[in-house]
Amino acid sequence: MRESHVKIVTNATSYFMHQYTKHYLHVNKPTDTLPPPPEDKEYLLYIHIPFCTMFCPYCSFNKFTYTKEAAAHYFKHLRKELLHVKDLGYRFNYLVLGGGTPLIDEDELIKTIELVRTLFNIQHVSCETDPNHIKPKTVLRLDGLVDRLSVGVQTFDNALLQKLGRYEKFGSGEEVYDKISAMLGILPITSVDLIFNFPNQSNETLLKDLELLQKLSPEQSSFYPLMTSSMVKNSVKKTLGTFSLANEYTFFNLIKESLKESYPSRHGWSFSKESESMIDEYVIDNEEYVGVGSGSFSFLNNTLYHNEFALDKYAECIAQRKSAVVKERTFGLTSRMYYRLMVDLFNGKLSKKKFEAMFGVSVNDALKKELMALKFAKAIKENKENILTTEYGDYLFLVLMKEFYMGMDRIRNEARKHLSL
Ligand SMILES: C[S@@+](CC[C@H](N)C(=O)[O-])C[C@H]1O[C@@H](n2cnc3c(N)ncnc32)[C@H](O)[C@@H]1O
Ligand code: SF4
Repeated sequence: MRESHVKIVTNATSYFMHQYTKHYLHVNKPTDTLPPPPEDKEYLLYIHIPFCTMFCPYCSFNKFTYTKEAAAHYFKHLRKELLHVKDLGYRFNYLVLGGGTPLIDEDELIKTIELVRTLFNIQHVSCETDPNHIKPKTVLRLDGLVDRLSVGVQTFDNALLQKLGRYEKFGSGEEVYDKISAMLGILPITSVDLIFNFPNQSNETLLKDLELLQKLSPEQSSFYPLMTSSMVKNSVKKTLGTFSLANEYTFFNLIKESLKESYPSRHGWSFSKESESMIDEYVIDNEEYVGVGSGSFSFLNNTLYHNEFALDKYAECIAQRKSAVVKERTFGLTSRMYYRLMVDLFNGKLSKKKFEAMFGVSVNDALKKELMALKFAKAIKENKENILTTEYGDYLFLVLMKEFYMGMDRIRNEARKHLSL
């Protein structure tokens, strides 16, 4: 693929997606509850734990400085919200705990997971953590409660870790490597989260991260491209330098090529040794989900909802009306079709049959112009059953997904405007 083609098409796609999300990705209709669910459905449940002991310059998730008291207060309200969701009639088979740092208060987290497991018939639990909460003693407490633990490493490079402020907080690359090595195998799946395309990152530092990842050999890894929405642009520039997209495509290909043998199953930016055990981004893989906790999102019946972001107001909402849902936005048919196209091709394949079952119209009729443009861009190919990404398409849909995530940050930004942090 010619470099100029990659550059022009990528920039144009990125620009189009940016404008599209800027226009459509807003959640501003006031509301105060989730709709009741249909009787026969099981959903994914997302729980947000918004506490950290440090704030990384690139991170836009909803988070506050950790104190034991604030967390105890928060978890108490969180468990009330879970009971409310149960009372509404929701049933869940899948639990994702994200943050922030879910394991920041182990006892509170374990109590909460146990409650969820008694309330619902949960089949899988996935949880995020930073490298400070993975001592074998802690991880052993999660055995039987958590199936997958994803550890935020970001990079093993000490110079970068220092710039990110993570060296002092979580240890050197070597120390983080040893911490993970000591807990591997306790839970069914350990995943290592890495980021690529930091400002001034070289091929060599990326190759070194790839080498260490493969030597460490966790069951899974997510390799995210650095996302620099307006919320974090300045702090990234101040700490790391000027962000550039010049190397992103080369880096992504380097990662794909390097992990092709050791992690044969790829889902967008996630890599796994075995395809069956892949538990991926919940927003991406689940058509509908319910989020609880401050600043969490739910997507139900074509509508995106979000909870109150501020901790004091979140607690007030739960105390007064049991639910912390504050805003909603319903999406039309075209947006939903675009979303399906993007998500399925991010994972490499869109089934024509599945699309038709979902929307009652064939993808070739409904999105004729878009498919033509993607073919012209050399991003997709098709056979009778499926639309598939080309080598370049793998990258182009990662770019689209990245823009979508940055669009979600705009919603976070809107919702957090009134907060003083
Ligand atoms: C919500 S964070 C929680 C991780 C945990 N608190 C830690 O710091 O290790 C989950 C993961 O999202 C990824 N992430 C966060 N912000 C990102 C950004 N701006 N660009 C790319 N990846 C990002 C990081 O890899 C991070 O480990
Ligand atoms: S990356 Fe983790 S520790 Fe850093 S600010 Fe985000 S949630 Fe907190």
